[in-house]
Amino acid sequence: MKKERSSFTSRIGFVLAAAGSAVGLGNLWRFPYLAAKYGGGTFLLVYIILAITFGFTLMIAEIAIGRKTRLSCIGAYRSLDKRFGFLGWLASLVPVIITPYYCVIGGWVMKYLAEFLTGNGLETASDSYFGSFTAVSLPGILGTPVTWFVIYVLINATVVLFGVEKGIEKVSRVMMPVLVILSIIIAGYSLTIPGAIDGLKYYLLPRMEDFSIYTVLAAMGQLFYSMSLAMGIMITYGSYMQKDNMLEHSVTQIEVFDTGFAIIAGMMIIPAMVAFSGGDTSLVRESAGAGLMFGVLPKVFESMLFGNVIGTVFFLLVLLAALTSSISLMETIVSIIVDKAKIGRKPAAILVTIGVLLLGMLSCLGYGPLAAIAPLGMAFLDFFDFISNSIMMPIVAFLTCILVGHIVGPKMVIDEVETSGTFRRKKLFVVMVRWIAPVMLLMILATEILKFFG
Ligand code: PHE
Repeated sequence: MKKERSSFTSRIGFVLAAAGSAVGLGNLWRFPYLAAKYGGGTFLLVYIILAITFGFTLMIAEIAIGRKTRLSCIGAYRSLDKRFGFLGWLASLVPVIITPYYCVIGGWVMKYLAEFLTGNGLETASDSYFGSFTAVSLPGILGTPVTWFVIYVLINATVVLFGVEKGIEKVSRVMMPVLVILSIIIAGYSLTIPGAIDGLKYYLLPRMEDFSIYTVLAAMGQLFYSMSLAMGIMITYGSYMQKDNMLEHSVTQIEVFDTGFAIIAGMMIIPAMVAFSGGDTSLVRESAGAGLMFGVLPKVFESMLFGNVIGTVFFLLVLLAALTSSISLMETIVSIIVDKAKIGRKPAAILVTIGVLLLGMLSCLGYGPLAAIAPLGMAFLDFFDFISNSIMMPIVAFLTCILVGHIVGPKMVIDEVETSGTFRRKKLFVVMVRWIAPVMLLMILATEILKFFG
């Protein structure tokens, strides 16, 4: 049965929708803590280089595959080569792993928003606040991460069930630029905190001695996550893109926006963090983790005039950015189930909600009651983050490069890009997709495996 495929009516509509999926907690929550942990300027430089070579290659390939086949990821990979049908399934599994823990962090954002909204936000500005909040103990579960996680999931489920994503998208389209502007203001303010300039140096200046394969590894995982790559999502977006939409140009814009925003988020958090640590960057490196944004920003707000108000607006905007991303993640899983299990949208959405609640609960309790069960020595949230970003996405990306670079051939993507304009970075694309990217991905996978099982 062939369904009519609707499409984005304008190029800017496509760019905004794809950027809406790309910009989320990856930029605000994940990027700053990885940059702080992996050597600041060194990480930043590696990330930028990877974004313009690697990220570009993968994004243009995925969008072109989608636009050419007009199918979402499972069908798209199979239609390029029968033997690669499994790759679509593998890619679809990534959102299944990410969505539950993404919602846990969404819950944290709501908790902080609630505190700021009720005028108590500045009380969150203590070193131990985040830790004691996430180390929830089971009795007295109300008001804990569990409650906020459940509320966050139910909001997502409601939106997906009633199909009101469009409304959310419209709101977020207006709010996104406000978030960017507010972030720039907060970043500017952060730099006035005594000691922040040393932090700025740490964040911007690369130092050779900080460089290792782990920097590349972390930056690569972050790139996939932040740009919504290697999980079939950009293929689906591409399948809705019109033929005359200038593909390369759109990809460049999404990349610049996503990376630019991540850099600003780092600027907001890292210099302030270094300042609060008394300039001790080795302390910064050790202590940077999933709680970084929640630990540092309230302290910045605390020292600002109208800190409570700024904090409220900020967390509200972060919540919106997170919602647009998690809704699109959840929507992806629902539509796969509707397609493949041939059940209705409502039962599929309910099924996904239950699954997300169950799986997410592990991440939610992983810093508290379940802390003793640490798969591969990590808390559950970090474990799920690790297997999706450091194992599954590199595998999907590697196989995508093999498929495009050696089996169907890069010409397929080139022709698709050239139907709507020139392909300026064609040579770069070919070398990347055929040789550099797959070799690097293999190296990365080998390192990961040696690290944990060697
Ligand atoms: N890229 C999003 C972020 O940075 C995460 C995401 C991945 C959202 C995949 C949707 C789909 O937060």
